Amino acid sequence: MVETIQWTDDGVVMIDQTRLPREEVYVTCRTYEEVAGAIRRMVIRGAPAIGVAAAMGVALGVARAGDGEINGSFETICRTLAGTRPTAVNLFWAIERMRRVYAGVQGRPAAEIRDRLIREAVEIYHEDIAINRAIGRHGAALVPDGGIVLTHCNAGALATAGYGTALGVIRAAVEAGKQVAVYADETRPFLQGARLTVWELEQDGIPATLITDNMAGHFLRSGRIACVVVGADRIAANGDTANKIGTYSVAVLAKENAIPFYVAAPVSTLDLSLATGDAIPIEQRAAEEVTHVYGVPVAPEGARVENPAFDVTPARYVTAIVTERGVAHPPYEESLRRMVG
Ligand code: MRU
Repeated sequence: MVETIQWTDDGVVMIDQTRLPREEVYVTCRTYEEVAGAIRRMVIRGAPAIGVAAAMGVALGVARAGDGEINGSFETICRTLAGTRPTAVNLFWAIERMRRVYAGVQGRPAAEIRDRLIREAVEIYHEDIAINRAIGRHGAALVPDGGIVLTHCNAGALATAGYGTALGVIRAAVEAGKQVAVYADETRPFLQGARLTVWELEQDGIPATLITDNMAGHFLRSGRIACVVVGADRIAANGDTANKIGTYSVAVLAKENAIPFYVAAPVSTLDLSLATGDAIPIEQRAAEEVTHVYGVPVAPEGARVENPAFDVTPARYVTAIVTERGVAHPPYEESLRRMVG
């Protein structure tokens, strides 16, 4: 399976997801500012993956700071990384975890502080893979043998430290001996489905069919789709789920056609401090992502554009939420609290 991100002595190494699938290029971030830039430009993307990247970014910032500079620069490092993307709560969760670890070693010798923060970041990385495997184990039972699963965006190995959340559920079902095929929405405008999900599934030999986003309704009505499985960027206490723009439309179409709609996400994606999804901040990205494809204009110059990167699917459309601790069913206020508790 592809290596999304690695901690090395040279810095944080990531596969450049803006260049997949045409080129498999690895970039090395040698400063925390470079890690922040990579998250912002979506060299690395996907909620759990940017959490891991942020944790490694904090560790890198501290590793590169002079002995006397750590205390003065720690908050700047954390704030810079926290300012990269607003929607995926895993980013803030990971930075908070690094802050807590730092508080525990603050004032100790610089070498000890560096070592402790690097260990924590690498642990978050390894934990994420184990968590995704657990999500897969819980979710595999929901995928019927011989079924076609529709997914949106990329919630695979590339969006995590490895294995994936939504694609982890599919991988686990395949590992359990089921025949599973995937229909992948291309996911305009950034094309995570076309560029990343189809590429990833092909590497694993899992049959993948690419469809454009506006074909989803047609196929959900066709009787050929067994279920929908997607990832999440933030889940409110009532189960409202922020995920890649277009997810909401898929969820409504799934309910209309009586097809189960599953969300697969780690507990670190739950934000129980928010009562509903209305409070989830939605990232607005550059107009060029919509007006251009691979640098080629597809709209008149100066066209007015909106480019929200995420939407919120109300909980009433979500059949179940699969976490590493089990499968949560409505009412989510109770079932999600139990997952965290
Ligand atoms: O803008 P992106 O590519 O970071 O958005 C990614 C998604 O919306 C994923 O579905 C989500 O982060 C879950 S990844 C396991």
